[in-house]
Amino acid sequence: MSEHNIYIYNVDFPLGDKMGEKITVSLIKADVGGWPGHSTVHPNLMETAKKVLESAKKDGLLIDYHVTGVGDDLQLIMTHRKGVDSEEIHGLAWKAFEEATKIAKELKLYGAGQDLLKDAFSGNIRGMGPGIAEMEITERKGEPIVAFMMDKTEPGAFNLPIFRMFGDPFNTAGLVIDPAMHDGFIFEVWDIMKHKKVLLKVPEETYDLLALIGAKSRYVIKRVYPKKTNPKLNEDEPVAVISTEKLYQIAGEYVGKDDPVALVRAQSGAPALGEVLEPFAFPHLVSGWMRGSHNGPLMPVSIKQAHCTRFDGPPRVAALGFQLANGKLVGPVDLFDDPAFDEARRTAAQIADYMRRHGPFEPHRLPLEDMEYTTLPAVLKKLNRRFKKIE
Ligand code: 13P
Ligand code: 13P
Ligand code: MG
Ligand code: MG
Repeated sequence: MSEHNIYIYNVDFPLGDKMGEKITVSLIKADVGGWPGHSTVHPNLMETAKKVLESAKKDGLLIDYHVTGVGDDLQLIMTHRKGVDSEEIHGLAWKAFEEATKIAKELKLYGAGQDLLKDAFSGNIRGMGPGIAEMEITERKGEPIVAFMMDKTEPGAFNLPIFRMFGDPFNTAGLVIDPAMHDGFIFEVWDIMKHKKVLLKVPEETYDLLALIGAKSRYVIKRVYPKKTNPKLNEDEPVAVISTEKLYQIAGEYVGKDDPVALVRAQSGAPALGEVLEPFAFPHLVSGWMRGSHNGPLMPVSIKQAHCTRFDGPPRVAALGFQLANGKLVGPVDLFDDPAFDEARRTAAQIADYMRRHGPFEPHRLPLEDMEYTTLPAVLKKLNRRFKKIE
């Protein structure tokens, strides 16, 4: 491409794109009861949540919203002008989950109120059980946004696909051929054990980044930012954000897997929509599945197929796409409802068969330290006196 072409390209998408209205997108989710077991969300829970959000929209607190369910997780996708960590928005989500929990209790759904770990809302939903992915962005002339929602797995399940989107030129052609994103991106990685974070530049620090995020149960990608040189995106506004709430750390005991969600912006300086979805054509192995204690393939599915029934899984990911129009959610489009992902689903089903044949053996079963159910202390206690020294 000649310099002339690059010039034309930039004129085509003027810097004015960076100066639209500030909108916050909040994706907040919780498991407030499964139907039956841990498989799906009962429609009455979604109806109840919709009523709460509809009234907030009428009052002007929300610009728009969409309620859905993935596996047994109730998902609230909301747009507003309150910024991230807004007490009003988090309080609203909490209220929707509380109302839904009442219905879940009436219907005696499984694990009613499972993810509501506190009795009363106290300013911020963080640390209270639900998962949150939020971003405040300047809405571009065209602002495609994808809500990814996973069930039966943990936040580290996003490491591989998010890396592929923003760091792997074999996935994202734009890293090579789009002048706007040719300089790469910046990854914010959290050490979830030590509660520390680090920013890493890609491509410069790709190998350092991979050294961390390959260990996905400890180091998780929290956000991705554009670089300063990206002409179409503001450097302080993320292009991706992932929920990282660790339920077992919050509650001090196992209360369910994290079942993470993410928001990803596409196009115009970010990966194209197809580059954002492409990593999910490979059903990589993630931890979670039955009793949060097994490795299995992540199957990309439509919302209709997001029912975790095979050994409570296999782990699923659904993706809803929207165009933002002054905060209005134009959509959703059910992005994995596409025969192009049939082969990934088939591969995932084959991997599920293969992994299941290991029964209680690793690496299907998670290593001891990662299991969220274990009888080992009881077994060891029982056998303690029968254990003899090996001479
Ligand atoms: P944008 O630069 O507008 O995102 O175009 C890239 C594209 O859509 C190719 O698939
Ligand atoms: P959830 O975390 O989705 O509630 O699943 C728990 C479980 O144990 C599934 O077998
Ligand atoms: Mg559940
Ligand atoms: Mg769940």
